[in-house]
Amino acid sequence: MRKKIVAGNWKCNTTLAEGVALAKQVSNLVAERGAKDVVVVLGTPFTHLASVASAIEAENVFVAAQNCAAEPKGAFTGEVSVSMIQSTGAAYVILGHSERREYYHETSEILNKKVALALAQGLIPIYCCGEALAIREAGTENAFVKTQLEETIFNLSADDFKKIVIAYEPIWAIGTGRTASSQQAQDMLAFIRQLIATKFDQTIANDCSILYGGSCSPANAKELFGQPDIDGGLIGGASLKAEDFLSIINAY
Ligand code: 13P
Repeated sequence: MRKKIVAGNWKCNTTLAEGVALAKQVSNLVAERGAKDVVVVLGTPFTHLASVASAIEAENVFVAAQNCAAEPKGAFTGEVSVSMIQSTGAAYVILGHSERREYYHETSEILNKKVALALAQGLIPIYCCGEALAIREAGTENAFVKTQLEETIFNLSADDFKKIVIAYEPIWAIGTGRTASSQQAQDMLAFIRQLIATKFDQTIANDCSILYGGSCSPANAKELFGQPDIDGGLIGGASLKAEDFLSIINAY
């Protein structure tokens, strides 16, 4: 059975004190909510991982890094390795976010290294894919996303692939307030699931959690999460306010 996951991506926001306070608020609200049907993930800056991991009390709340080094260790000034991330108590790592692909030139080759290192370290990659507006307008989004997957996580063994979470984030919907319609999101996620079934098998496809990200909010989460192939969300802006993030979790 695939998991329902609501993951926040704080991006480059919050000081350490603000981040710990936000994590505590979310953790308390999730604990009060009681139901443990949804896995909640907080994607924090590297500097916050250890403090946020120890501030969390609700058992279904986990911490994610937003990136990792493409090398296991060594003379790579400024980089943060998967073993460092894991040693903080983080369980997940967001990889392949469009902002990293666009601003930091992360290619499929680099992402393959990062995914392999994360899996070897026992971290769960939340692997992001998604097309830019021009590709959507040209009607070639399915082919584009298929290539992104074929160049990266479709090269994994079935056993490794089973550990991955996928997040589809159309770039035109990120931070723009222009959400994909629930039908557009559902169509793409169903397409991705079909690709997984063809590449691996139907059981692996059925068990894979696939999230939608891009202007997800308390106002549209219920409609999005109500779609049969949408297993949750990767939330940017709305994950920075505990009440909004909880409303999104409560959409389930
Ligand atoms: P927004 O929810 O702010 O659109 O960001 C989505 C995102 O990029 C999450 O990774």
